[in-house]
Amino acid sequence: MNDCDCLALRLSDDRLQLLDQAQLPHREHWFAVDDVDTLIEAIHALRTRGAPMIAIAAALLVAVRVTMGDDRDRIVVAIERLHAARPTAVNLAHAMDGLRAALGAPDWRAAVIDCAERLFDDDRALCDAMAEYGAALIDDGERILTHCNTGGLATAGIGTALGVIRRAHEQNKGISVWVDETRPLLQGGRLTAWELGALGVPYQLITDNMAASFMAAGQVDRIIVGADRIAANGDFANKIGTYGLAVLARYHELPFHVVAPHTTLDADCATGAAIPIEQRAAAEVRGVSGAAGDLCWAPADAPVANPAFDVTPAQLITSWILDTGVFDAADVAAGALREAASAA
Ligand code: MRU
Repeated sequence: MNDCDCLALRLSDDRLQLLDQAQLPHREHWFAVDDVDTLIEAIHALRTRGAPMIAIAAALLVAVRVTMGDDRDRIVVAIERLHAARPTAVNLAHAMDGLRAALGAPDWRAAVIDCAERLFDDDRALCDAMAEYGAALIDDGERILTHCNTGGLATAGIGTALGVIRRAHEQNKGISVWVDETRPLLQGGRLTAWELGALGVPYQLITDNMAASFMAAGQVDRIIVGADRIAANGDFANKIGTYGLAVLARYHELPFHVVAPHTTLDADCATGAAIPIEQRAAAEVRGVSGAAGDLCWAPADAPVANPAFDVTPAQLITSWILDTGVFDAADVAAGALREAASAA
């Protein structure tokens, strides 16, 4: 197989390694993945995470299993199990569907490897295309608020929403970023802050409940987020807390953009109501686990609700920034997302 190298994934000599994102920013630990159980555990624990990244890691692992000599039946089982590893991000489902289709080729081994390698290469190009379209919307000196982590850790390239921000910074627009810490698993505080620091992009970390008051004070110019699945009508699922930001943006008359590759579109979901939302463990809300150990601040048996994602309705979105262009509500109503999805 071709070697692959990006911020959170390395493939060399047919061996796959992933950066353990659960240990960031305190420890940069890489772990080897050569079996399906290890990757499923890593996806559940968010050691590997972000909609494009889980799809690419899963596809490359299936290709690695092919190089290890697994027969077709074992590959079919691997694809089915990985498909079910996380329900909300549709990129994983699309990637596994692509591999399943490749199994129908006369030389199915070569076809599966080619399909996985193309996912990696394509994702890098998709990130660059989104970054160009998105950065063109940003004016000099803007203060941009983002949520969760949508950068190099979450993709094979420079990211989706964070890729747009990075490109605007590289264009010397003098931007700065409000980073929502993103409760409960702190992808903003741990991962986005780590990425922006390494890139030299000016940022300030805030707790999620500070966003409203910074908007009211006129200190936020634009909100840019990623997506795990975009329905045909433009509704989209993203990290819990995204919907609240969209409501706040509307009240404060601020532009609110979602940035995603066409691999995140799901034309089979007519509206956001059809998007499955992952429910996660109670312990994540009762406290926190990290490099410093576990801390539980709630009663150990406190009843908890912990949906990992929420759905933002299309009417709150200023524009959808895809790898194929920037679309507004009129474009989406005219079927732009269905059309872009047909390339997925
Ligand atoms: O639970 P996570 O950390 O995988 O959630 C990630 C997000 O919500 C991202 O915004 C989304 O996957 C887009 S990543 C380019």
